[in-house]
Amino acid sequence: MPRHDPVSMPVGGRIAVGVSGGGSNLRALAAAAVRGELGGEFVLVFADRACPALDWAEGQGIETILVPGGDDEVLASALRAVAPDVVVLAGYLRILGPHVLAAFPGRVLNVHPSLLPAFPGLHAAGDALAAGVAVTGVTVHLVDATLDGGPIVAQEAVDVLPGDDEDTLLARIHPVEHRLLPRAVTALLAGAIDVPSGARRATVDRVAVDAAAPVPRRALLSVSDKAGLAELG
Ligand code: GRF
Repeated sequence: MPRHDPVSMPVGGRIAVGVSGGGSNLRALAAAAVRGELGGEFVLVFADRACPALDWAEGQGIETILVPGGDDEVLASALRAVAPDVVVLAGYLRILGPHVLAAFPGRVLNVHPSLLPAFPGLHAAGDALAAGVAVTGVTVHLVDATLDGGPIVAQEAVDVLPGDDEDTLLARIHPVEHRLLPRAVTALLAGAIDVPSGARRATVDRVAVDAAAPVPRRALLSVSDKAGLAELG
């Protein structure tokens, strides 16, 4: 994968996003782009089935394509036509085939609702509940030919609380996904992700990511005596 000088990172990096469902991760990516934190723009949203996420993208005026069943050759040629720098699987519930993977080596990210390698597959939250674990979480990883098995880019734990069901657990997992995925996309666009030979975990150059797309730091002040606030500001 080409590494970019973070200072000259293309703020207009080209991003293709795959979806199959509700599209909350797609909307989180779009929100990060609007805030100027993503370092890129959408050139294509693709789906393997009709879904709300695809409808939302169409409504936003983003170029979309429905590839029924996620046909590998059709998808590879649709993606090549828009030449994305990064392909993001944001709730795309299908394994990519060899044509797509060969066209974008090291440039495909996936978000998964567990701490991989625990609970790969389509039912990660339910599987975590069934296993009785106290902690699960979110993983963003580079995609290879394995099922949810590519090099890990980012992970964050989420507690499983007594009485959780799939809905309540996923309701706490999603906000973590919405924070980790855009940052990983920024990092990949910035050339800040590297996978040492044979490693299962990618390294992320956080200084390069911050240089590429600084996240504004905000503080909330609440005071009863407002004297001097103007000077502080
Ligand atoms: C997310 O939980 C993601 O981790 C998984 O599919 C879900 C997609 O949700 N791969 P959404 O469509 O982004 O709301």
